[in-house]
Amino acid sequence: MSDVHVMDLFRLDGQVALITGGSKGLGASIATGLAQAGAKTVICSRTQADCDGVAREVEKATGQESIGVSGNVTREKEVDRVFETAIEKFGKLDVLINSAGINIRHPVEDFPLDEFKQVIDINLTGAWLCCRAAARIMKPQGWGSVVNIASALSGVGLKERSAYCSSKAGLVGMTKTLALEWADSNVRCNALCPGPFLTEINVPLLRSPERVKSLLRLTALNRWAELYEIRGAALFLASDASSFMTGAALYVDGGWTAQ
Ligand SMILES: NC(=O)c1ccc[n+]([C@@H]2O[C@H](COP(=O)([O-])OP(=O)(O)OC[C@H]3O[C@@H](n4cnc5c(N)ncnc54)[C@H](OP(=O)(O)O)[C@@H]3O)[C@@H](O)[C@H]2O)c1
Repeated sequence: MSDVHVMDLFRLDGQVALITGGSKGLGASIATGLAQAGAKTVICSRTQADCDGVAREVEKATGQESIGVSGNVTREKEVDRVFETAIEKFGKLDVLINSAGINIRHPVEDFPLDEFKQVIDINLTGAWLCCRAAARIMKPQGWGSVVNIASALSGVGLKERSAYCSSKAGLVGMTKTLALEWADSNVRCNALCPGPFLTEINVPLLRSPERVKSLLRLTALNRWAELYEIRGAALFLASDASSFMTGAALYVDGGWTAQ
């Protein structure tokens, strides 16, 4: 192994990656990054037209095959169908990125129970269902890398985010457990914990410039991240560049959790 070139460890040539939440924001950016590294991609969200649109853009930008497959990560049968479609098309699955997620913000005393459950259902149960589907493919296959997109708010709290912080802290706990369950099968599971990116999930914050200012001040770098700034860490965790990492949580948060 001493003659392995470090840059080759970041290549995903011939590999297949499925990205939930791949139709927008961080998921779409990560899909592009993985395709630039040589992967074929399966773009999943609830909206087929958006998935097809991103798949076409990824193909055009990278020359790598990409398909859109709609599915709601909270629905068991739809999740299974998405993974079956990926296998029918590409014959294997090397990488799963769980990026589907939402945020709903209220003080706890005003938080409707159904909205709390919706956040947990998509961010935590949905990722669990996708991990379960991936395990059924990757364990018998004998390899694979799963990256769960958690959050800086996996590690620290933030007012009005009781549902979101619960879901994202839970996702890191799940990641560690699956890393242990899968290690004997050479399947890795890590969490990637981003700080603030200006995607649709954060558009409601723009109504209050003061809230945006105080949110960004929580990061040491005091700014929104650019969408491409998630790609390096996502590729690192997806690829053999991180082959001795499993059960880890990697923070790409502009220094939010340093303080
Ligand atoms: N942006 C940030 O500042 C930030 C920071 C830390 C962590 N994160 C995490 O990063 C991930 C991606 O967020 P983002 O910023 O890219 O948000 P986004 O732009 O709103 O994208 C969310 C994606 O998830 C999909 N999605 C939502 N519910 C789904 C469901 N039930 N089944 C399947 N797909 C679903 C959406 O498509 P459809 O609505 O069409 O299904 C969309 O593709 C999330 O897990 C989020 O919590 C984001």
